[in-house]
This record gives sequence, structure tokens and C-alpha cells, in this order.
Amino acid sequence: MTEPSKMRPVTGPSVWTGADMAQTDTWIFHLTPAHVSEIDAALKTAHAAPPALYDVTARDFPLPTLSPALIGLGDELRDGRGFFLIRGLPRERYDDAEMASIFWGIGSHLGIGLAQSNKGDRLGHVVDLTGPETDMRQMRSYESGGPLRMHTDLNQDVVGLMMLRAAKRGGESRIASSMAIHNTILAEHPEYLQPLYDGYHFHIFRHQRVGPSKLTPHRIPVFSDYDGALACQFNPRPIERSVERAGVTLSPVAAAALDFFVEVAARPDIYLDMALKPGDIQFINNHLIVHGRTDYEDHPEPESRRRLLRLWLRRPDFPKQDPRTQVHEIDELGYRKAAAIHGGVGAPPSGTAAAGAK
Ligand SMILES: [Fe+2]
Repeated sequence: MTEPSKMRPVTGPSVWTGADMAQTDTWIFHLTPAHVSEIDAALKTAHAAPPALYDVTARDFPLPTLSPALIGLGDELRDGRGFFLIRGLPRERYDDAEMASIFWGIGSHLGIGLAQSNKGDRLGHVVDLTGPETDMRQMRSYESGGPLRMHTDLNQDVVGLMMLRAAKRGGESRIASSMAIHNTILAEHPEYLQPLYDGYHFHIFRHQRVGPSKLTPHRIPVFSDYDGALACQFNPRPIERSVERAGVTLSPVAAAALDFFVEVAARPDIYLDMALKPGDIQFINNHLIVHGRTDYEDHPEPESRRRLLRLWLRRPDFPKQDPRTQVHEIDELGYRKAAAIHGGVGAPPSGTAAAGAK
């Protein structure tokens, strides 16, 4: 547990505001015609459908001059502002399968692609799959439409998104610096930081449970100071479900801290909205940035609906993460292991966020 005395403002380039970033486009990397030629050449030899695509490595997808630039952008993810956008891919030149190969190929120069569900897909699709008959309680958020509150994805180093088809209106990608949110909370409500460092039990869907418990055995810290770096893991939805469906009682300060994080992340001067164009690729450091999306109006035809491809990447050079941030134990490719780990790790300390299952 991090002591309050160690809770200091974060400094450095990972602390930024949307207001700052809206003034500059230095976070956009523009592909040159030479880069696109390299991508075309790599695509000729490395085009494959999943799961064979998952065997394609950086060596199989050579990008002679783009690769060094991607390495520099990867350093920016780790040590800089924590995000960038790649623009300039001629979307009209490629079909969806070729776009998937390009995305995987570029991603292979930035990290190791991990499984995103228990189906084992390592290249995910973000699209509204809902219809009038859908049971929304069973849908994962990337498979439904509408706005998405700010959150991080489960314990991944890097989240990548490639826009295949934009919505009819809206659906912008919204990101914010978790480090700026941390500093704002410290400045305005320092009493909320302790419950955020202590964390919250997450509700686990029935099909994802290993044992009988509806809850993670330990709390997932929102902020964790580990391996010399502060990291953020935030998702209000499984915490709210822990209250609604598993009888967890949050202390008033723990509940207020959660609400305040959501409130700060929703401030227009804190977040940055990005209107991704077809072909744009966004990468973010999941430990330093929260993300969401604005509401949108989709096309009525299923084949025309807003659709993005998603990558979750592991970066061996990133700071190690507090094991308490793991909801499930995963192997080196992101596949769920059979049994839950860390049972009892970070057992609820006495104090702020009393929790118990009925
Ligand atoms: Fe997400």
C-alpha cells in the first residue's frame, strides 16, 4: 500500500491536458510515400488471415525506414506523452483483410499482440453488434454502441486502434492523461487518493469466473506506484457491478473518490478528442492514459457500421506492473490461465473501502 506521504504530483511529459494537446499536432506521425511503399512490399509477403497472421513478426513484416521511426514512437509511449496517431495510410487502396495485416504488421514493430477474449482473438473488432433483442447485460463494451466512459483496458501495456469505417456522426476517440487526473485529484481532493491507491474489488462475469466468487479476491488499485513508476488502472463499470450484483458496500470516501475520478476525466480541458479518419492508427500507453469515446450515430446497414480494429500489446521494456492490477492470470500471449492467482494478494486493508460479498 502506498503511504499518503508518497503521494506527490507526477511530473514530466506524461502529464498533459487536452487543452494543451489541442494546440499542437506534434502527436500525429504522417506516413511518407516511401513508408507506404514499404508497407505495400511487406503486405505482399506477409498477408494472412488470423490465426496464421498471429505468427507474423517484425522480421516477417520488414519496414526499413518506418521501423526506426516506430521504435522512436514506442519510446514516446513509454517516456513521453504516452500516445500518438499514425496518419496517411491510403485506406481506399486496401480491403479490410489487408488493413488487418497492415495493422498487425505495424503493431509487431511496437510490441507483442495479446489475446483479447477467451475466444483467443489477438486482433479485435470494435463494432456495435447489438440489435433489438440483445441482452445488454452480457455485452462487452467494445461490442455495443453509444458513448464510452473513460477507462483503461485490462492490464495491457499498449492499446492500438485502427479506424476501418467511421460513424455517420460522432464517435470520436477520447483520451486523457491519467497522470494529470492524479495531480488534479491531489490538488483538489487529496483525501480521495488513498482509496484510489487502495483500490476496489471488481465484479467478474459468470463465464469468466474461476471459483464461486463474483468478485476478484483482491482489490484492483486505481493508482499503483510500482517498479519506480506510477500507473493507473481504472474502470468504473466492474466496480459499480460489484455494488449492484455482489453486495459490496463502498465507504462514502471510496464512492466519492470513484465519482471524482470520473468527473475529472470528463472535464473538457482535461480530455482530448480525436476524430479518427479511416486508415488512422492510434496507440496509447494504457498505464498512463484513460480512453473512451463520444456518442455517435451509426449507419443503419450492418456492413457500413463504425468499425475499428484493436490491438493489445505487451512491451517488455515498460515498467513492471503491480500484480494487484491483474484481474486474471494470463500467460505471455495474454491467454487466460486455468486458475486465478493473487488470491489474498493485496487483501483488503482496514479502512476506506469496506467490501463484502453477500
Ligand atoms: Fe477500452
